[in-house]
Amino acid sequence: MSISKAASGKISAQSPIEQRLQIEHLLSPAALSSNQIIDGSDVVKGLTQTSKSLPARFFYDDLGSELFEQICELPEYYLTRTETAILQNYAFEIAQMTGSCELVELGSGSSTKTRILLDAYNQLGYPLHYLPIDVSAGILESSAKQLMADYPSLQVHALVSTYELALEQLIPTQLPSRMICFIGSTLGNLMPQECDVFFSQITNALHLGEYFLLGVDLQKAKHLLEAAYNDRQGVTAAFNLNMLEHLNWRFEGNFDTQLFEHWAFYNETRHQIEMHLRSLRSQSIQLRALDLTVEFEAGETILTEISRKFDLKTLQQELSQHSLVPLKTWTDPKQWFGLLLCQLQP
Ligand code: TRP
Repeated sequence: MSISKAASGKISAQSPIEQRLQIEHLLSPAALSSNQIIDGSDVVKGLTQTSKSLPARFFYDDLGSELFEQICELPEYYLTRTETAILQNYAFEIAQMTGSCELVELGSGSSTKTRILLDAYNQLGYPLHYLPIDVSAGILESSAKQLMADYPSLQVHALVSTYELALEQLIPTQLPSRMICFIGSTLGNLMPQECDVFFSQITNALHLGEYFLLGVDLQKAKHLLEAAYNDRQGVTAAFNLNMLEHLNWRFEGNFDTQLFEHWAFYNETRHQIEMHLRSLRSQSIQLRALDLTVEFEAGETILTEISRKFDLKTLQQELSQHSLVPLKTWTDPKQWFGLLLCQLQP
């Protein structure tokens, strides 16, 4: 069925799940295999340059996604807990400010935090339209089905897609407005220049008066930040090292995870956590499917992720420069995390 039929309200609130759920693949299997998501050209590029790096998307195979869910529960990893608390305190106020709107979420994952927003819109009696976007079809489908079961009137139009593609192709919403949600401080995983491009994509995807909800981790003492990315149980280390296992199966590699270690530190000049894998000795690695041999010196590192930490004032200015005007910013009592509601204005 088409989304417009569902959205026109002809279907009763208790309609079967198939009538309220639509999953659309902007990344068809063919597109997937011909495009960068599976293609290893950026792996070759990253491993053959002087300062080695790997694309962060290789974190997320099934085990990686599972480990990431575990990271979110770690005592040292304050981000998820703090953002959840802010949402719990202010979701109702957000819903009051935006009025009825469609929720679009970039990198929706398990959609756990989104439920807080859905509850608020629900309490205000607004129709619930949710457009989760994720590259992982598996998690998108399972969390969408769970949501459908828990919210009997919810309509979900899930997009298996990259952010970029989805933002270019958003179909007009049936509701009075729309809010694009980008929470979990995923913005911090973009480099400054990528961030700038990303904001332009948001600006282009929204109509005047529509909203952008952004959750970001804020600058704080080095020891707090470093603890969050070096947990005592070693889950973050396992998550980081799992990228090598992922490359092994995907590209017929022979990385031995015993011969690398997790290394994360806060770069105070750039205000970012830098996560690396460090080679414990000199070694030579093959990735047969890529026809690639890589030499490592003892102590040499591969950059796998950055996580930038923001200053609210600077970020608010950057958003304003993209016509995304911050209407209100919420934080927690320790000011560790920020949630910004922005509106596209002329
Ligand atoms: N965006 C979150 C952060 O920067 C989550 C995240 C992305 C993460 N990659 C990670 C957490 C790697 C731990 C390790 O913290």
